Amino acid sequence: MAQVKLGILGAGGIAKVHTAILQQDERVEIIGVADVVAAKAAALAKEIGTAKAVGSLDDLFALGVDAVYVTTPNTLHVQPVLQCLKHNVHVFSEKPMATSLAEAEQIRQAAAASPAIYNLGMNRRFASVYKRVKELLASGEVVPYLAQIKMNRGELLHPAWTSDPQVTGGFLYETPFHLMDLSRYLFGEVRSVLCEARQNLSPSELDTFAITLTFEAGTIATFVTYAHAGWSFPFESLEVYGKYSTIATQELEKVMYAPGLQQAALVHDFFQLPSAEKWGYVEEDRLFIDAIVNGTEPPVTAEDGFRSLRLLEAIYESATTGKKVNLSKTMEGKAAW
Ligand SMILES: NC(=O)c1ccc[n+]([C@@H]2O[C@H](COP(=O)([O-])OP(=O)(O)OC[C@H]3O[C@@H](n4cnc5c(N)ncnc54)[C@H](O)[C@@H]3O)[C@@H](O)[C@H]2O)c1
Repeated sequence: MAQVKLGILGAGGIAKVHTAILQQDERVEIIGVADVVAAKAAALAKEIGTAKAVGSLDDLFALGVDAVYVTTPNTLHVQPVLQCLKHNVHVFSEKPMATSLAEAEQIRQAAAASPAIYNLGMNRRFASVYKRVKELLASGEVVPYLAQIKMNRGELLHPAWTSDPQVTGGFLYETPFHLMDLSRYLFGEVRSVLCEARQNLSPSELDTFAITLTFEAGTIATFVTYAHAGWSFPFESLEVYGKYSTIATQELEKVMYAPGLQQAALVHDFFQLPSAEKWGYVEEDRLFIDAIVNGTEPPVTAEDGFRSLRLLEAIYESATTGKKVNLSKTMEGKAAW
């Protein structure tokens, strides 16, 4: 018998990605799918085979779920997550954690008080290209003096709610949040943030950002993100510069490492991998189920998610005040190397 009876809240695009992976895990049985649109719950439940289609989180609780994936639109993550933690039901929340720091703080406190596991779905950390970058940095092979980060979106048309800041929380809570979280994961905590932003094509929000990040360990980085770039490849990239060395990623496909002067560069190209693996979803799902079954640390805790959200809000604060925002007073002016 499966060890984890699982429910899905929100039967949309990303739910399909997770359920296809979780169905392969023999420790898991997906027993329920809930959606406000009955036809969507029914269609996904049918695809899964073992799941009952229902209408709400309470219905999933009534089925006796041990864990829930919250895969509803952005502003609809917090309440179900809090309900799960209150009912001691493990919860995997899609990103973003919340769309305000006050709500993220509520989750942080609820997760600390609950015996249930909270995990935030930051799949980029487990994407093949970024695992390679992490290896090069964590081993000390590359000391990251400078980085250049780009995370554009092509449009805010699909799904339609991505253009509505009442539902997304704002453009930065959409795709750009992935690389904000990733920048902390790779370079450590951010000391300060300075951002210039504009509202160019979006009717009601900032959509164009040029950000400077200063990390406590000494790395400095630029981060640009624009909402309407038309999916020009690569819309997501990271370059890291060390001592005569460069790491450069292209999308979630390829990473080039040039280790030094007069040395051949090494290229890892992941184009053959299935996208669910290449994009990090397979590993993040496995680690969440491991945490439930084996009692290991979940891959992205509430504390970790809170810190990434604090960074995002500091960027908005700098964009609106025009001032540099200090996130930490520690290690003033000193690099770790
Ligand atoms: N980690 C990633 O790479 C990644 C990728 C895509 C989406 N996401 C995140 O996942 C979430 C969902 O995105 P999506 O693209 O699957 O959206 P989607 O619109 O395809 O699916 C959302 C589903 O939630 C349902 N829903 C809305 N309100 C509900 C409620 N109160 N109760 C139950 N169901 C409800 C909708 O009917 C819809 O079926 C978003 O927060 C998004 O940011 C993450």
